[in-house]
Amino acid sequence: MCGIVGYIGHRDAYPIIIKGLQRLEYRGYDSAGIALYDGSHINLSKTKGKVTDLENKSKSSISMSGNLGIGHTRWATHGVPNDVNSHPHYSNSGDLVIIHNGIIENYESLKKELGKRGYSFTSDTDTEVLVNLIEEVQKSEGVLLGQAVQIALNQAVGAYAIAVFDKKKPDEIVVAKLGSPLAIGIGENEFFVASDASPFIEFTNNAVYLEDGEMAIVRLGKEIKLRKIQNDAIAYPNILELQMNLEEIEKGGYDHFMLKEIYEQPRAILDTYRGRLLPDQGIIKMTGIDQNLEKFLNANKIIIVACGTSWHAGLVAEYIFEDLARIPVEVEYASEFRYRNPVITEKDVLIAISQSGETADTLAAIKMAKEKGAFVYGVCNVVGSSISRETDSGTYTHAGPEIGVASTKAFTTQITVLTLMALKLAKEKGEFSESRFHEYLTELETIPAKVEKALESNTLVEIIADVYKHSTNCLYLGRGYNFPVALEGALKLKEISYIHAEGYPAAEMKHGPIALIDEQMPVIVIATKKGHYEKVVSNIQEIKSRKGKIIAIVTEGDEQVVDLADHVIEVPETIESFTPLLTTIPLQLLSYHIAVMRDCNVDQPRNLAKSVTVE
Ligand code: G6P
Repeated sequence: MCGIVGYIGHRDAYPIIIKGLQRLEYRGYDSAGIALYDGSHINLSKTKGKVTDLENKSKSSISMSGNLGIGHTRWATHGVPNDVNSHPHYSNSGDLVIIHNGIIENYESLKKELGKRGYSFTSDTDTEVLVNLIEEVQKSEGVLLGQAVQIALNQAVGAYAIAVFDKKKPDEIVVAKLGSPLAIGIGENEFFVASDASPFIEFTNNAVYLEDGEMAIVRLGKEIKLRKIQNDAIAYPNILELQMNLEEIEKGGYDHFMLKEIYEQPRAILDTYRGRLLPDQGIIKMTGIDQNLEKFLNANKIIIVACGTSWHAGLVAEYIFEDLARIPVEVEYASEFRYRNPVITEKDVLIAISQSGETADTLAAIKMAKEKGAFVYGVCNVVGSSISRETDSGTYTHAGPEIGVASTKAFTTQITVLTLMALKLAKEKGEFSESRFHEYLTELETIPAKVEKALESNTLVEIIADVYKHSTNCLYLGRGYNFPVALEGALKLKEISYIHAEGYPAAEMKHGPIALIDEQMPVIVIATKKGHYEKVVSNIQEIKSRKGKIIAIVTEGDEQVVDLADHVIEVPETIESFTPLLTTIPLQLLSYHIAVMRDCNVDQPRNLAKSVTVE
């Protein structure tokens, strides 16, 4: 959580940092701040609110010139979101200024020690403690900033990505990383530092991602020097050439990133299976699986760990792997799994699913499974992310940057990767005949066009959204493959419109949620053909008898549900295992339109962040 940006070079730092912070707002947006060095002074401006609030405040309060600066967009952990707790934070002398993403767990004891030495604090943050600790080390040990940061961080316990500069030495920024991401962009005698590459992609494609436990002194006129925080060992920067382009991180004519990303799904799914799904040759090519085939084929079980929407993709995968490949699967919330002493053996395969590849709980679950000897496979979107590096092997989803906090294309592309994996393993295990395999492969190839068709429901969905935009509760029901889709639909609505919504297996309705149904309650039911269709139709009857309002997602040409439901949204027919890729589309659109009609901030819903790097 929190986004950090820094710049040192020949350009004006202010616009680079502001724009960079706007691109990083997905990481947190409850307050923002900037510090610029203008050649003699540090000018600092910070405020509760969004980066636009910071822009408004800065215009009237500080000089915005300077070729060195750092900025921060915050998701509060220690201290409420207010002006004082916003970053950057000064040291007591006013010479050092820092931005921080993460948590310093032992900040209370460090604060007490510094207090005894005369330091005072204006904020409630752990970050202000850290910058003063660095200053204290500088003074007591007589060392330069880089070394002081290193010594201070060896006394700190916790997670961080930091950037700090010293007014007395304005040709360098010192950065360090443990647990939170940090990238350095390398230009022509200029450097950028940021939580990801989006703030600097229009200036340079060359970047170094710090590894955990590394720090760097980014100094003008010098090559980047990396070293280990713990023991001074030199680390050699691996300079990557990034593929990301500017269009991918802009709205491209859509009102919101979420809508753009919903509409990108046909292309994103195609990009996910491009070069992997080869129906003409009758194969699925996945290097990660090919190289580790025995591990999967001999696995006692597959354990899937993830959080949020990725966990829902994991639930869909449970159906796919067990149904198609006949491999036992357990799906776990990473946050529960890591703390409950689970039984993991060397014969287990753990699949970690994560869009960002940075989620702290998922990362911790991976580390635990590795310690217990399990083989760990990652399904990530962000290339080079912590999870993709920590896992033994994996497959990228190639969805492109997802910026809307509510995850959409990440979900469908994760399901696509997991489907490819399950089909490949099913074939290798002999669960599929050649002809059945070919049928599934060719059908999967039609999914982007079918998603395109499902998106045509947009106008109808908007009309339905208008009817239910004032609802206070909403129930989502699905069975089998579409039960996780019901959970995901409810999560989307909660996240961005703040309407209470619950997802349930349709048949479980009678064990509780049915008590909630009256004429005020919209019930969204996924009732596609196959997949227990008749049973879901009976559930719809039960809702109707209690006067619930029924919005049904059905297969094109459906005749039964049409007579029962208040509203019917059609999706194209496909193989049952692939239906989540289609049924999820109208649910994404429904939550989007309701949120827009309720005047909610769709891309930056309150209290949420896209990348959750704290426990
Ligand atoms: C946050 C995001 C969700 C996401 C979850 C897991 O809660 O708001 O959209 O599903 O984290 O993130 P990951 O990056 O691991 O998929």
